[in-house]
Amino acid sequence: MGKVYYVSKNMGLGMLILAVTALAIIIALSIAYDKERAKNQGKPGDEASEGTTMPTPSTTPFTPKEPWDRYRLPDSIIPIAYNVTLWPRLEPNTDGLYVFTGQSAVVFKCVKETDLIIIHARKLNFTTFLGHHVKLSGLGDATVPAIQKTWLVEKTEYLVIQLSSRLTMGAPYLLHSEFLGELADDLEGFYRSEYTEDGVKKVVATSQMQATYARKTFPCFDEPAMKAVFNVTIIHKPGTVALSNGKENEPVDITLEGQTLKQTSFEPTEIMSTYLLAFVVCDFTYIGSEPGADVLIRIWARRKAIEEGQGDYALNKTGPILSFFENYYNSSYPLSKSDQIALPDFSAGAMENWGLITYRETALLYNPEVSSNGDKEWVATVIAHELAHMWFGNLVTTRWWNDLWLNEGFATYVSYLGADFAEPKWNMKDLIVLNEIIGVMGVDALASSHPLSSKEEDIQRPEQISQLFDSITYSKGAAVLRMLSEFITETVFSQGLHTYLEEFKYQNIVYQDLWRHLEMAVKKAGIVLPHPLEDIMNRWILQMGFPVVTINTQTGEITQKHFLLDPDSVVDRPSEFNYEWFVPVTYIKTGGTEQQFWLDKKQDTNKDMALGTNDWLVANINMKGFYRVNYDSKNWENLINKLNSQPKDIPVINRAQIIDDAFNLARAKMVDVTLALSTTKFLDKEVEYMPWQTTRSNLDYFFLMFDRSEVYGPMQAYIKKQVAPLFKHFADITANWTNIPEKHTDQYNQINAISLACSTGVEGCRELTTKWFKEWMTNPADNKINVNLKTTVYCNAIAAGGVDEWDFAWSMYKNATIASEADKLMYALSCTKQPWLLNRYLEYCLDPDKIRKQDATATINYIAGNAVGQPLAWDFIRSQWNHLFNDYGGGSMSFGRLIYGVTERFSTEFDYKQLLQFKEDNADQLGSAATSLEQALERTKANINWVNLNKKLVLDWFSSETSAV
Ligand SMILES: *[C@@H]1O[C@H](CO)[C@@H](O)[C@H](O)[C@H]1NC(C)=O
Ligand SMILES: *[C@@H]1O[C@H](CO)[C@@H](O)[C@H](O)[C@H]1NC(C)=O
Ligand SMILES: *[C@@H]1O[C@H](CO)[C@@H](O)[C@H](O)[C@H]1NC(C)=O
Ligand SMILES: *[C@@H]1O[C@H](CO)[C@@H](O)[C@H](O)[C@H]1NC(C)=O
Ligand SMILES: [Zn+2]
Repeated sequence: MGKVYYVSKNMGLGMLILAVTALAIIIALSIAYDKERAKNQGKPGDEASEGTTMPTPSTTPFTPKEPWDRYRLPDSIIPIAYNVTLWPRLEPNTDGLYVFTGQSAVVFKCVKETDLIIIHARKLNFTTFLGHHVKLSGLGDATVPAIQKTWLVEKTEYLVIQLSSRLTMGAPYLLHSEFLGELADDLEGFYRSEYTEDGVKKVVATSQMQATYARKTFPCFDEPAMKAVFNVTIIHKPGTVALSNGKENEPVDITLEGQTLKQTSFEPTEIMSTYLLAFVVCDFTYIGSEPGADVLIRIWARRKAIEEGQGDYALNKTGPILSFFENYYNSSYPLSKSDQIALPDFSAGAMENWGLITYRETALLYNPEVSSNGDKEWVATVIAHELAHMWFGNLVTTRWWNDLWLNEGFATYVSYLGADFAEPKWNMKDLIVLNEIIGVMGVDALASSHPLSSKEEDIQRPEQISQLFDSITYSKGAAVLRMLSEFITETVFSQGLHTYLEEFKYQNIVYQDLWRHLEMAVKKAGIVLPHPLEDIMNRWILQMGFPVVTINTQTGEITQKHFLLDPDSVVDRPSEFNYEWFVPVTYIKTGGTEQQFWLDKKQDTNKDMALGTNDWLVANINMKGFYRVNYDSKNWENLINKLNSQPKDIPVINRAQIIDDAFNLARAKMVDVTLALSTTKFLDKEVEYMPWQTTRSNLDYFFLMFDRSEVYGPMQAYIKKQVAPLFKHFADITANWTNIPEKHTDQYNQINAISLACSTGVEGCRELTTKWFKEWMTNPADNKINVNLKTTVYCNAIAAGGVDEWDFAWSMYKNATIASEADKLMYALSCTKQPWLLNRYLEYCLDPDKIRKQDATATINYIAGNAVGQPLAWDFIRSQWNHLFNDYGGGSMSFGRLIYGVTERFSTEFDYKQLLQFKEDNADQLGSAATSLEQALERTKANINWVNLNKKLVLDWFSSETSAV
């Protein structure tokens, strides 16, 4: 799915980090969780577990006897073309139900003898013809068998047609049906979306077919390999516009059921899969490309949004990104038009319907007044992701869903190339490391992870398909394809893509087809790989996890081992490759240029990696490979010295990588925690975003564990010392905070500078944020605070202030007309240090007039993220549990999330006992929180161990680093 299940990571991650609430791994899990949450929106009680889940591999696959009891279509019939007419009603009928009616005619061919037609259909009411759900006719001379009986199978979502005799092989037939379905607000198939404009409720009919919802719109052979041509017609009211995959013809007036209506037909589609269909009826308007352009580009949205220019950015960037991909694939855009539409309340990120891409508003619209640079980056990358699919995924499609990782991993990888082309100054090719790779390494380092690729027979039921849309599929998929593209070079990679697209256009593939084309390109370019490309890649896609590569620079010995964040965890998933990989180990050593060594066994020796005493070596240059690196202690020492003396000699991504690897190796007990801390010592000379961001996410856990203990003081003093030069740097480059930094990543890092400087008390920081906030308070109608800095400025001003600041922010929150602004304030209100204000805010969470029910969980968790608020929030949920559970449940409270957030700091035996007591007291009313409670208990135990092991070391280290000053 084209990031369908994505929520904006910039937003989600930003909030988490600002709340200083999580250790890297927990952040990674939370991202996965956010996606899950987006997926489960509107399905109360469906509490996703943290991390990733995976269809359990089938034991001996059970094959049901009757073909209609199997989840896969028989291979006897293939569709050729459909005529589909749909008429959605945007007003409820006399029963108060929103419905659509439709007709469908599908031309199909029989390719294996059969007297059975099985076609997908779900939740449709059919008009009957002579007692049957369908009419069958012939298109040639072949005799047409009579229909014996027809019936629906709910479990497998089929309409079954039993014929009295066999169909003639190769002859074309026509299956005709008429049906009625509900235009529900369930975000599946053809559905209804509502929004309010100028106080008027408006209804939009729109669709989401991926993965298995086309069958809920009209009867169809709903598998990705059942490609066909679709002639679509939509009936709608005058004053509305109808859109679909093909270009629309001029609407004609018709009269139906006594109403004057418009009938819009569309040009026949290309040969395509059902999951890429899209139908929309709305009263939106658009901005489009100049007439006469090769490809018609239109950005559709609510009239107001378009009038305010919110579609301009998307329109500006779509053309260049399309040209980039035409060039990259060396293949012209396959369609005559490209529509992109922003839907209010679209459940997820976006969906790559061929020719009509659907987005949630935040993924397509950009409003310079209120959107941050992170919001802008999100728009550029989501557009690039979806446009990449127009070829990879849509023109050439995987045969079945088990190869979803290829489709989504690829689009995720190249979205950074497309966005980089559209915004060359943003360093997007570097940011993929922070945005996708480091995060998913946290998930993939757990024993509960899973391989990228699944077996076709293990993915059968619709819920097994939807479980595949996780961070492994998207982000690890992107990481391993990036690694491949790097070791065969981007040019050769794109040459392989070109011949692959040429051979398979309008068809379906399995991932091996791509490997074959890339191998051909590799041979042609004269690149020598140590093993066939397929053998190299299989190790990355068929087994879960990734290696830690250990380099001994004394001897040149190099080894690999499956990296597990918890060294005591048990891996019970077998791997045919014994958790060994073919690893492209790139490295730079003192004064040298980049080299590459293939580590294709458990242990090897590379004499070139044996160093002199003062030399250093850093491996996995620019984190091109999906692995972590450990060294002998001498090299760690030299590397840390190098960072301290001449950090610029080490590439910026590697400065971040060294920190992230060291903290994760410490978690896995492979290096000392003090070594990890030592990798942050050079930060007083660092002004780049990536190392700072990595440090912040890794130190979050230290804050959680120690911000109420004697470690806190020395830790604060150390960070203050490190961040003070950064704060000054930003004061300098912004002419004392009057300009916005030019560089995209500087805009991000400015947030780190201010937020860390203010929280550790760097001189001038609190004064600054308080002054900005005061200016806003004196003139509430004119908020001059820079959009990128709003969250951190609000939070710090409220933390430093009292009831006046709080009450002002509260009134601004209540009056906010823009959701993102309200969200920022909702978070910032939790930053106060005054217990009575925090308690009052907690009480507000139980009053839906004050805090919307849907926001209550997040608000309580924000409060718990504050060291002062944490015990208050815990007391609050314990004393209110009855009330929360019985009166406030009903899907609006996510109890699992609540338990997860409120217990994050738990790290003492006393905390553990309290949790046990809570479990006992509420045994019969835990509901969806039961799993989270078990996880919280487990996590508390792990925290207790971690603190026991590390507290003294950490305290001594921070103390010695700061005592000299
Ligand atoms: C779809 O429309 C095209 C062009 O109008 C026509 O040639 C084709 O036969 C139609 N397909 C079906 C299934 O009727
Ligand atoms: C499909 O619709 C087109 C245009 O309305 C019509 O000409 C054609 O006969 C239809 N085809 C079938 C198979 O019903
Ligand atoms: C379909 O038919 C069933 C059974 O008659 C009925 O309950 C349901 O409301 C119908 N669906 C729609 C959308 O009208
Ligand atoms: C879109 O491009 C135009 C013309 O180059 C430019 O004036 C405008 O500022 C751009 N708008 C946005 C939001 O990027
Ligand atoms: Zn996608």
